[in-house]
Amino acid sequence: MPWRRAWHDALYASGSGFYRSGDGPAAHFATAANGPAGAALAEALLALWHRSHPRPPTVVVDVGAGHGELAAHLAALLDRAGDGGASATTRVVAVDVTARPAALPDRVEWLVSPGGAALPHALDEALDEAFVGALVVAHEWLDVVPCTVAEVGTDGALHELLVDPASGIETLGDALVGDDLSWCERYWRATEPGDRVEVGRSRDEAWSGLLGRVRSGLVVAVDYGHTTGTRPPAGTLTGYAGGRQVVPVPDGACDVTAHVAVDSLEADERVRQRDVLDALGLTGATPAHDLARADPLAYLSALQRSSALTALRDREGYGAFWWVVRRVRPADVP
Ligand SMILES: C[S@@+](CC[C@H](N)C(=O)[O-])C[C@H]1O[C@@H](n2cnc3c(N)ncnc32)[C@H](O)[C@@H]1O
Repeated sequence: MPWRRAWHDALYASGSGFYRSGDGPAAHFATAANGPAGAALAEALLALWHRSHPRPPTVVVDVGAGHGELAAHLAALLDRAGDGGASATTRVVAVDVTARPAALPDRVEWLVSPGGAALPHALDEALDEAFVGALVVAHEWLDVVPCTVAEVGTDGALHELLVDPASGIETLGDALVGDDLSWCERYWRATEPGDRVEVGRSRDEAWSGLLGRVRSGLVVAVDYGHTTGTRPPAGTLTGYAGGRQVVPVPDGACDVTAHVAVDSLEADERVRQRDVLDALGLTGATPAHDLARADPLAYLSALQRSSALTALRDREGYGAFWWVVRRVRPADVP
């Protein structure tokens, strides 16, 4: 079957999909959101919000929330904000495909989503209320939105790749046509036999679908990706399971992911995470040693924050992630 369909079933089919299992992504791989850097990531997202908004958001939404780890950090920060309790009234909504995780703080609302490019109707209601401003975050969501995978055949044309879901064995299907082909011609040209393309059209549509639900605010996708000029000729499709990178067999036993073509997404800004943190003044400087004597607990927590920021800024790691930012103002809405 076409990769896109096999991929969707492998991750989101009810009963058997990898992400439906309930273990959550953190059981299989670490992300900046579900690991020790999560609190610093939440701090950076709220700092970005406050760079252009004096008041706190009405609602914060985490799309593709895993088990709500980042949403919980965001909620904790909002509750601690020194603004006389204004941020404590911000709704925090996490969206993912499983039932509400047992360990999620009560403060965080939970919405169950169909998965992939589709989002739940209940999200429209949460965002509709947020006329004065929603902060919507999608951390490592778009890389698990299944897309068409194509390969250049010996005839020099792009063909859709088909895959056997049980074995992962691929065969070349028909020549690519229509919107997928148009997307490749515009964003990812491939002409050498054997070169592969992960057709970002479905990610563009998923992203636009999310933007279309936001009446006003800031929508931020954070993900690994590439741009024209740095497309990987062999593609990036891969799998993860049990903490290891594995061959991406779409049988429901592993995550299947591919980098995001970030320059085809509708955006006001596309910036590497390290540069975002620089611009926000989140440099990860080590705390002064004097603090260790004066207030050992404060010193330890400052040290923890500094090492989290260092991990988020690492050029070879999370620092190379892209922040794709779209500012939605009331005037943008038809
Ligand atoms: C790679 S994990 C990232 C989880 C978390 N954001 C993090 O960074 O740790 C991708 C998550 O997106 C979720 N997801 C995929 N499609 C979704 C959709 N349409 N709505 C909500 N969640 C979705 C998956 O179920 C999975 O938990």
